[in-house]
Amino acid sequence: MKKKTLLIVDDDAVFNGLLRRQIEAMGFATLGAGSWAEAQQKLSEIEPSAIILDFKLPDSDAAKILGELRNQYPVIVLTGYGSIPNAVSAIREGAADFLTKPVNVDELEITVRRVLETAELRESNRFYRTQLASHRPGPLVFVSSAMREVQTLIDAVGPTDTTVLILGESGTGKELVAQAIHDRSPRAQRELVAIDGSGLQENLFESELFGHERGAFTGADRMKRGLIEEASGSTLFLDEVGDVGPAIQAKLLRVMETNTFRRLGSNKTLTADARFVAATNRDIEAMSRSGTFRSDLYFRLSRFVITIPPLRDRREDIEPLTRHFLAHLTTRTLPVSIAADALKLLVAYDWPGNVRELRNAVERAVILARPGDQIRSEHLAFIPRDRAGDLILRFNPDPSLEQLEREYLRQMMAKHGGNRQKTAAVLGISERNIYRLIEKYGFGGKGDS
Ligand SMILES: Nc1ncnc2c1ncn2[C@@H]1O[C@H](COP(=O)(O)OP(=O)(O)OP(=O)(O)O)[C@@H](O)[C@H]1O
Ligand SMILES: [Mg+2]
Repeated sequence: MKKKTLLIVDDDAVFNGLLRRQIEAMGFATLGAGSWAEAQQKLSEIEPSAIILDFKLPDSDAAKILGELRNQYPVIVLTGYGSIPNAVSAIREGAADFLTKPVNVDELEITVRRVLETAELRESNRFYRTQLASHRPGPLVFVSSAMREVQTLIDAVGPTDTTVLILGESGTGKELVAQAIHDRSPRAQRELVAIDGSGLQENLFESELFGHERGAFTGADRMKRGLIEEASGSTLFLDEVGDVGPAIQAKLLRVMETNTFRRLGSNKTLTADARFVAATNRDIEAMSRSGTFRSDLYFRLSRFVITIPPLRDRREDIEPLTRHFLAHLTTRTLPVSIAADALKLLVAYDWPGNVRELRNAVERAVILARPGDQIRSEHLAFIPRDRAGDLILRFNPDPSLEQLEREYLRQMMAKHGGNRQKTAAVLGISERNIYRLIEKYGFGGKGDS
C-alpha cells in the first residue's frame, strides 16, 4: 500500500525538518513548505492525507487558510505554547486538531493517527452513505410530539400520489422527510430523484428537468433524458422550490397540471408519471402574496403541507439526536458517551442551523475528545454561549405572556441544573407552584430538565 503523505507547513526550517523526520519515523511520507505560497505550489502537485500548519505564517494566516482547506484536507494546526485561544479559534475555523510547540513526540503520533483515522472514517462513512442513500436512508429520530405529528402526516400521505410541500428552516430535515414519504409509497422500489432549485441557472435547470434533444443548443451533442423522465414511476423531489425563477415556475406549474412535458428542442409531448414532493425554507406563502412566487403554483404545491418545526422549538429531540449521531459517528476507538454538562449545553443552544448544525457539532466534539474520552463542555467551545448570567429571551413575533413564562421557566430550570427547589426560590414561587408550571408546560421530561 502506498504511504500516506503529510504536508508540513512551517517557516522555521529547523523545526520543519525535525517534524518531518519524526513523522517519517512513524511510517509516513512527508513534504515540507516554508510558506503558504510554497504550500500551494506543493498542493497543486500532490494530494496529502493531512496538513500540519503553523498558525503564524509569513505570508498568510491560519484562519484564512483553514477557510479554504476545511473541506479538502484535515488540518492540524501548530500553535505556540500556551496559546489556547489560537487553538480554539483554529478548531472553530475547521481545523481537525491542534498541537502546541514544542511538540511532544507521543502526542504528535497520537494526533496524526487520530486525524488520519477520522478522515478515513468520514470518507468510508460518506461512501457508505452514498451507497445506501436511496434504500436505507437514516431513520427520523425524534421524541417530540411535534415530530410525532410530522411522522403521522408522512404515514398518511406517503402511500398516496398527492403532491406534498415540506416547509422548514434550513437543516430541519426536509430532505429526510421527502425520502420518508417516498419510502412509504408504492413507488419506493424506484429511487427518489431530486432536483435542486437553488443551484442551477434557469436554462440549466430546464434541461436537467426536461432533458433535451440532440442539437437543442450548442453543446447538446446527444439526446439526454430529463429528471422528470428518470422519475417516471418514482418521486421527483423539487428541493429549494422557493428559489426557482418565474420562467421555471411557469414550467413546473404546467407539468404538474397536465402531466405532460417536452424535451428542449422537441415538439413531441411526453407524459410524466412522477409524484411530486417539494421543499423550501422560504416563506413561499408570503412570496406568493407579494408576487415573487406564482400564487397558482403555490396553491398547486400546498395541497398537503408538512411543516417541520425548528429544533429550538422541540428541544426534547436534541438528546436522542445527539445519541443517534454519536452512535453513528463513532467507532470503538473514539468516544461514545457525553457528559451531562455538555448535553445541557446542547439542549440550551438555539441551533439556528437546526439538526444539521447539531450533527456537525457532535462530529467535531468527537474529533476533539481524546480516544475513549467522554464529550465534555470544553469540546463544544465552538458553540457560542450567551454571556454567563445574562437572561436572553428572543421571540419573533412578540410572545404572549404564556410563551414568555414558558421560556423564562425553561431557561431558569436549565440555569439551575433542573433543580426545582432552587428555581422556585429564584422565581419567588412555592415548590408546589413550580410543579404546577412544569406540568403545564410539559417540562420535566429528561430533555428539558
Ligand atoms: N429527525 C432527524 N433524525 C435524524 N437525522 C436528522 C433528522 N433531521 C435532520 N437530520 C439530519 O440532519 C441533516 C440535515 O437534514 P436535511 O438535509 O434533511 O435538512 P434540510 O431541511 O433539507 O436542510 P436545507 O434546507 O439546508 O436543505 C441531515 O444529515 C439529516 O440526515
Ligand atoms: Mg435540503
